[in-house]
Amino acid sequence: MTPDTATPPSLSKPRCCGSLILASQLERPGGKLEFMATALWRRPVLGFLILFVAVARSEAAHLRPDFYKSSCPNVESIVRKAVAKKVRETFVTVPATLRLFFHDCFVEGCDASVMIASPRADAEKDAPDNLSLAGDGFDTVIKAKQAVEAQCPGVVSCADILAIAARDVIVLSGGPNFIVELGRRDGFISQATRVAGRLPGPEFNLNLLSSLFRINNLTTYDMITLSGAHTVGFSHCSRFRKRLYSFSSSSSMDPSFNLAYARLLKQACPPNVDPTIAVNMDPYTPTIFDNVYYKNLLNGEGLFSSDEVLFINRLSRPVVQKFAANQTSFFSAFAGSMIKLGRVGVKTGIQGQIRKECTVFN
Ligand code: HEM
Repeated sequence: MTPDTATPPSLSKPRCCGSLILASQLERPGGKLEFMATALWRRPVLGFLILFVAVARSEAAHLRPDFYKSSCPNVESIVRKAVAKKVRETFVTVPATLRLFFHDCFVEGCDASVMIASPRADAEKDAPDNLSLAGDGFDTVIKAKQAVEAQCPGVVSCADILAIAARDVIVLSGGPNFIVELGRRDGFISQATRVAGRLPGPEFNLNLLSSLFRINNLTTYDMITLSGAHTVGFSHCSRFRKRLYSFSSSSSMDPSFNLAYARLLKQACPPNVDPTIAVNMDPYTPTIFDNVYYKNLLNGEGLFSSDEVLFINRLSRPVVQKFAANQTSFFSAFAGSMIKLGRVGVKTGIQGQIRKECTVFN
């Protein structure tokens, strides 16, 4: 569907810009580290705490792009071939794989815990927050793993295959290319009960979004950047129904909606819509990974409150404006934040295992 571009006057001229400082602070995390380094020798207690945090984070430091250089030198081209084939079969592969990676990393870390299938339907993927993960994402990883196993049996983790596949679908849909760090191992824990509260909801405000990302060592800047993934893919009507029909006691519809966009959403998602109906999250270029997501936010065309709030909140607005105006800057930020996302809670060395099949523990 293609809404016209009529813009409510209140959104056409954003008030600017009390928070440019916040945006630039968020862009330069290095400054903080420098401060920690000088404080270390002066304060032993603080020094101990910093060392502790450093140890806790050090697993990510074990990841490296050439991890399979001698054990499976062609792993990236094998995965790329399998992913490209799957994308040719159905575009849904792109958003499905990207979202699968995000959901995997935020629960137990990037360890393919989301891939595990349980006959009792009590694995991570069976949690309510994961039920809408599209099957094509799982299928992509399973197929890529089979192709990799045929050439390098028992060597490459499902977690790494998912990380490579997520990068590949971004590139295949026109997004930025970047080097994927490797060396993750597959986790032993995959439980539906451990998902609640770890994934963001479409009704979250900026504080809630920021704190959930913070827990995963990702900044607000990373969160705004990674939300740009909503430039591809679909959402079921139920995820934004409230914004259209029962927003608050004073207004049935969220007043931040672009009216023309809301009208089209109401057509696609009438009150008693079939629960399987889904709409494009970026109505203009739904199959292209670009910066149109941010342009839409400027126009009141964010699908979820958690999208539109990035423009409404004056703290995050400058970043949205920057990405809307400059796709190159969005692309380089997105590549950087994806690399950081890929470090969340990883298992390396002797932790975890290399699964033979991604959906079952060895
Ligand atoms: C910032 C907080 C986020 C919230 C609240 C959020 C929420 C959602 C929701 C509710 C859907 C629709 C699911 C459905 O109805 O089927 C969705 C879809 C999607 N999300 Fe997010 N998400 C967030 C961040 C991310 C991140 C960080 C990524 C990846 C880096 C991502 C990638 C996607 C993709 C690609 C889809 C489309 C899935 C498909 O078409 O199968 N999201 N998200």
